Amino acid sequence: MRYAPITDRLMKLGSEKWKLHFETRRLKALGEPVIELTIGEPDLPPDRAILEALVSALYSGRTKYSYGRGEPDTLKAIADKYTKSRGYSVNEENVIYFPGTQTAIFATLLGLVGQQDSVLVGDPYYATYEGLIAATGAKRLSVPLRQEHGFRMQAADLEREIRDDSRLLLLNNPNNPTGSVLSRSEVQAICRVCEKYNLWILADEVYENLVYKGEFYSPLSEENYRNRVISVASVSKTYGVPGFRSGWVVGPEEFCKKLIALAETMLFGGVPFIADATAFALNSSSDFVDRMGASYVHRAKLIVDALAPSPQINPFLPSSGMFLLIDVAGTGMEGEEFAWKLLKNKKVAVMPGNSFGSNATSFIRVSLTVEDALLMEACKRINSFVKV
Ligand SMILES: Cc1ncc(COP(=O)(O)O)c(C=O)c1O
Repeated sequence: MRYAPITDRLMKLGSEKWKLHFETRRLKALGEPVIELTIGEPDLPPDRAILEALVSALYSGRTKYSYGRGEPDTLKAIADKYTKSRGYSVNEENVIYFPGTQTAIFATLLGLVGQQDSVLVGDPYYATYEGLIAATGAKRLSVPLRQEHGFRMQAADLEREIRDDSRLLLLNNPNNPTGSVLSRSEVQAICRVCEKYNLWILADEVYENLVYKGEFYSPLSEENYRNRVISVASVSKTYGVPGFRSGWVVGPEEFCKKLIALAETMLFGGVPFIADATAFALNSSSDFVDRMGASYVHRAKLIVDALAPSPQINPFLPSSGMFLLIDVAGTGMEGEEFAWKLLKNKKVAVMPGNSFGSNATSFIRVSLTVEDALLMEACKRINSFVKV
């Protein structure tokens, strides 16, 4: 049978990227004592009040069809959040509700680029970006995120990679997997380059509330460049509910007008009771994300100390997010080989760096989402693996 080219373009870019993670889940289902440090699922249970808001919406009949743009109260809650945090007046016409950041990026890219275009992205990048860009048929151009700059994108590096067909910069700040956070002046310099070459900026800001060092600054806060900036995020990380699949785009009114039919064609609206719980969460004054962030900072430091006896591996202390990168080049192995052998020999599951781009091949990524004692046990096993 014949299939459309998109299926070939995405063949190795879906679950293949998470192969080690799925193998881990298979082993755990068989009862193997694997310590899972692969994906970014917050371990803290979400606030009970959010779950109660969801259940009460469900029982009050919020199970019908929704609107293409989203539920009005949820759109308002998102708009209010951005008005407060980005320093200008955002309204419902600037927002479209999506089932998670992932779909928000998918639809935005589909609305802005195609086969004749190229998309710039910092490398290392979040694992699904490769597939998201490939789905549109656009070419991916990597902007190196250099360790000597703390993995923060430098405007000069961006400018060097821009070509005539470049249309968009996919900017993940705070960054997964590196945990880096751009300074205000770095964001401004990147905006200037994007203005010069007439590029859209698609800012993936899912970790904006999980910053430990430095200060989050969004390109949406830059009045002069706002017409080319789209921010995407969700409640997945901030409220510990990735299974809600609840997120949004915030951007110029004209962009939202153009994108709305695409969103409607794809989704035919969201899930009203989840949208209600999302609005509740956004309007609440929860300290969930601060508690979660404090435990991640603590765990990242624990790991750095615990791995100190193994000079062949170098952990990079993150400034944000829920992950930590470890350079394993000193072991003579690439991240991929290291991760699979570590799983086989020591039953510790980490992500191989090559899932996050060609600049991450010498790394493994560790998720900070398990309790301290288990994390220490994982470090013990890593140290003994490195010694062999
Ligand atoms: C940088 C980044 N963007 C997007 C996502 C997807 O988030 P969501 O659950 O909102 O689709 C993740 C999830 O880990 C992420 O790390």
